[in-house]
Amino acid sequence: MAGKRIVVLASGEGTNFQALIDAVAGGKLSATLAALVSDRKECGALERAKRNGIKAISFPRTPSNRGNYFEEFLAIIDGLKPDLIVLAGFMKIFPDWFILKFPMKIINTHPSLLPCFGGTGFYGLHVHERVIESGARISGCTAHFVIPAVDAGPIILQRSVAVEDNDTPESLSERVKEVEHEALVEAVYIVLQGNYRISGKRVLHPE
Ligand code: GAR
Repeated sequence: MAGKRIVVLASGEGTNFQALIDAVAGGKLSATLAALVSDRKECGALERAKRNGIKAISFPRTPSNRGNYFEEFLAIIDGLKPDLIVLAGFMKIFPDWFILKFPMKIINTHPSLLPCFGGTGFYGLHVHERVIESGARISGCTAHFVIPAVDAGPIILQRSVAVEDNDTPESLSERVKEVEHEALVEAVYIVLQGNYRISGKRVLHPE
C-alpha cells in the first residue's frame, strides 16, 4: 500500500484526520495524505493540515458556485488523483452521480452503530442527542464504504462504547471519538491492503 494517495474530506475539528496524520507519521499506514479538502472556509481540520505540511483546500459553497458546486468539487478531487477518499467528519452529502464516480473508493466514519441513528439529518452531535433520547445503553462508531444511499454502505468495522446515565451529547461524542480514531485507522489499513471481500452489507477481512 506504500505510495497510495489518500484524500481526506472534513468539515470540523479534525480529530479523526489527526488520527490518520499520526498513523502515517508513526508508520502504521504507509500511504500519503495527498490533501485535506473542506467545505468550510475555516475549520480545525484545515489548520491541522497546514500545521502538518499537508495540502489544505477550502472549497465552501458560495452564491457563485452554487449551481455546479459538486462538479467543481469533483474536478478538485480528480486533480488530486486519490486511491482512497476518506470522509472524516465531512458534513455535505454528495449527489449519487458523484459517489458512483468512485465505486468502493470512498469510506466514511459515522458516530453511531449503523444502521441505527444514520441517514439524512444524523450528523455530529445530533446523532449523540438522538442516541441519548432513545435510551440506548450502547453506542459507538461505524466505518463503512459510501454508496448512494446515505450511511447504508457495506460496514468495514464498528466499535462500541457504553452510554452512561449522565452523558451529554458532548461527553458521548468524546467517548465515541476515542474508539473512532483507532477504528478509522484500522479501516483505512484494511482497505489499502485490499485484503477484504464485500458480501452484501458486510466487509469480510481477516481479523
Ligand atoms: C466524528 O465523530 C464523525 O463520526 C462525525 O463527525 C465527527 C467529526 O469529528 N461524522 C458525522 O457525523 C458524519 N455523518 P472530528 O472533526 O473531530 O474528526
